[in-house]
Amino acid sequence: MLHLSEFSVRFALLMGFLCGLTMSYKVEPLPDSYAGLGEGPHWDAERQSLYYVDIEAAGLLRYDYNQNKVYKAKVEGESLAGFVLPIEGKPQEFAVGCGRRVLIVNWDGIAPVAKVVRTLFEVQKEYESNRWNDAKTDPKGRFFGGTMRYIGDEFVHRHGELYKWTAGGQISVVKSDVGISNGLAWDEKAKKFYYIDTTDYEVKSYDFDFETGVATNPKVVFNLRKTSPKDHLLPDGLTIDSEGNLYVATFNGATIFKVDPNTGKVLLEIKFPTKQITSSAFGGPNLDILYVTTAAKFDQPSPAGTTYKVTGLNATGYAGTNLKI
Ligand SMILES: *[C@@H]1O[C@H](CO)[C@@H](O)[C@H](O)[C@H]1NC(C)=O
Repeated sequence: MLHLSEFSVRFALLMGFLCGLTMSYKVEPLPDSYAGLGEGPHWDAERQSLYYVDIEAAGLLRYDYNQNKVYKAKVEGESLAGFVLPIEGKPQEFAVGCGRRVLIVNWDGIAPVAKVVRTLFEVQKEYESNRWNDAKTDPKGRFFGGTMRYIGDEFVHRHGELYKWTAGGQISVVKSDVGISNGLAWDEKAKKFYYIDTTDYEVKSYDFDFETGVATNPKVVFNLRKTSPKDHLLPDGLTIDSEGNLYVATFNGATIFKVDPNTGKVLLEIKFPTKQITSSAFGGPNLDILYVTTAAKFDQPSPAGTTYKVTGLNATGYAGTNLKI
């Protein structure tokens, strides 16, 4: 028979064990943060603001941390905005992916309209059904971004490509045969680049030379294929924490998976009250808040399209890097 005090000790040990394992993270919506296809969150440390896009509304959004308020603008005369990247040394200028062009737009972060200044470069002129999807700057300020087919079946017509562009240089293809070019992340300590093509249902790592910006030696580090293709999870946006763990958003999974890319092990599943989780970025004054964009595609009910903050993750990440042009 179990002695009462012995039972209490065992119970206390069990509870301590469970509490130690359970991360007490908290998911909260940002006020008035709706985007029908929210994407591309980028933390701007200087302005303590999260920039993101509403792709199919050509929308630019800025969440001001100190005001706890979201400002929204439309890119004048455009119908798509795949990403928004602040430009180094030009506080009111941003590179925005409109269709297959990268435009420089002028926005003060408050006005409801962002004005087009000029075209920086253009890709795939012949592929009218393609558009820019996710893009980021690497830690050296180089552009990396990719395209996808948005009219027709992007799982069948793999006409997307991943590109690199450096100030003063030419645009070059990093990878062709891409279905939906998506998440990007870099780890300077591990000398790695991580990349997601959603239609491959996996996250790949590349050895990355930070001096030259060249990615080599692709390897699968996380696989989201299930036994039945209709159950495959769709990996979307990507970010990384300062310990090198990846945060993989799933477009049909209501979940961000925190993954150790060295082992492929899931360390944490961060759950949301809506299904289409598109991307995430660390931000806030201590870079310990995970900001998360979502979508409301194909008639997803409310709160689809809300942008969230996740606190209590006991992790920090990196602010976004301005694009050097
Ligand atoms: C927080 O993370 C650090 C570094 O990984 C770890 O040592 C510590 O145990 C963690 N704390 C909690 C409460 O999980």
